[in-house]
Amino acid sequence: MSEDKREKLKEFYFQIKGCMECELGKTRTNFVFGSGNSGAEIVFIGEAPGRNEDLQGKPFVGQAGKILDELLLSIGFNRSDVFIANVLKCRPPENRDPKLEEINICKKYLLKQIEIIDPKIICTMGKYSTQLILNTDTSITKLRGKVFRVENRMVLPINHPAAVLYTPSRFGILKEDFQRIKTILDNYENPGNISSPCDLAETGATGSFGLEAAANLLSDSNSGISAEKGPVVSTEPDLQKSKNEQLGLF
Ligand code: URA
Repeated sequence: MSEDKREKLKEFYFQIKGCMECELGKTRTNFVFGSGNSGAEIVFIGEAPGRNEDLQGKPFVGQAGKILDELLLSIGFNRSDVFIANVLKCRPPENRDPKLEEINICKKYLLKQIEIIDPKIICTMGKYSTQLILNTDTSITKLRGKVFRVENRMVLPINHPAAVLYTPSRFGILKEDFQRIKTILDNYENPGNISSPCDLAETGATGSFGLEAAANLLSDSNSGISAEKGPVVSTEPDLQKSKNEQLGLF
């Protein structure tokens, strides 16, 4: 099952990695697809690649990534247990904020990834991913730490790990929110044990993922995506494994 999802993700990666739909395509070093477990029960979504991510082609490999690793470890996880992606796949110059236009272009990629992975929980980190996934303009301060049900998934907005770099005291709040993630996962089949999921209407969120549009993407020849073919991948298990690891897909 997870192997099937990994192949689908890989195919999708090779399809979109040459994207030039917005100006960030001209300045990026690498297209940062996202990495982790293709069959993960939880997907973490950040904002956009920074300098290190752009250079290495993987999400959260800089200082914010170290904080994220520590938080994952605090609930017994490591990167190969979860999938990590961003709202934008390419680095905005000088790490400026993502533009609305860029988010609107790039969101179909994230939505398609979510559709393929089909996680139980989406953890949005910071303002941009939270507002995108909950389809709201309510501030992250009001949303963080609450649990939302969107379609058949739980969505948990938390602060962006990079916030700790500026305000170290935020680490404690993030740690508490990670404990909440663990509680949600452990009680997924008995949601009564989770302090009640919020009513989406309360936040102005419609909770629409727009997954249907994303569903057509792989076969949509008018999408403007350069359908770059992936390399011929060896069927030898060892080579196959190391190729997957190189791509950051487990
Ligand atoms: N911040 C993000 O939002 N994403 C990354 O990949 C790195 C830092």
